[in-house]
Amino acid sequence: MTGAKILIGERVYLRPYTPADADLLLAGANEPESARLTGTQQTFTREQIDAYIQRNLQPGEDRAAFMFADVRDDRAVGEVVINEIDAANHAANIRIAIFTPADWGKGYGTDAMRLMVRYGFETLRLHRIELGVYEFNPRAARAYEKVGFQREGVLRDALFWEGVYYNMIIMSILVHEWRG
Ligand SMILES: CC(C)(COP(=O)(O)OP(=O)(O)OC[C@H]1O[C@@H](n2cnc3c(N)ncnc32)[C@H](O)[C@@H]1OP(=O)(O)O)[C@@H](O)C(=O)NCCC(=O)NCCS
Repeated sequence: MTGAKILIGERVYLRPYTPADADLLLAGANEPESARLTGTQQTFTREQIDAYIQRNLQPGEDRAAFMFADVRDDRAVGEVVINEIDAANHAANIRIAIFTPADWGKGYGTDAMRLMVRYGFETLRLHRIELGVYEFNPRAARAYEKVGFQREGVLRDALFWEGVYYNMIIMSILVHEWRG
């Protein structure tokens, strides 16, 4: 285990990034199916990942980002990020990624989202947390619905991927809808 445990769930706990996470983050960022599911059009270099970790070491005014690891063996599984914090409106965006496809669909993502939503409402005192999910990612949308996110709109043709346009579904959760 490296560093503090920020919040502990049933499957995962949140912890700060460390420089030693770079290999995993680089592999995850450049994994082709993850790139499609997150609509990531660029590829990343080791230098960019190192700089990203440095930026995430301390919570900033506009973001809070954590790694999450398996409670059973401390293995790093993914990252979850609250960003675009709008202090005036108590609102922010959230995104999540599990680095290795073999870890998808095993309950890690739902647990990590629950913890980060808790962090957003309890620690950051947010009122609203929103996210975007592409129409071809029902696994992610289902995980978000289990946490309590509601579908509220569609950004039409928001992604152009390999010659085809796809819609992005906007989902959000408000603090009074949150079950804790
Ligand atoms: C999105 C992500 C974080 C979700 O985490 P996860 O651990 O895979 O999800 P969970 O196992 O917690 O929950 C997935 C749910 O979707 C369901 N599901 C899986 N495939 C599905 C499908 N094709 N259609 C509908 N539901 C599906 C699962 O059965 C489960 O629901 P259940 O508990 O009611 O059975 C993870 O899959 C991931 O990182 N994917 C790659 C990157 C990505 O898509 N990021 C999100 C971009 S918006």
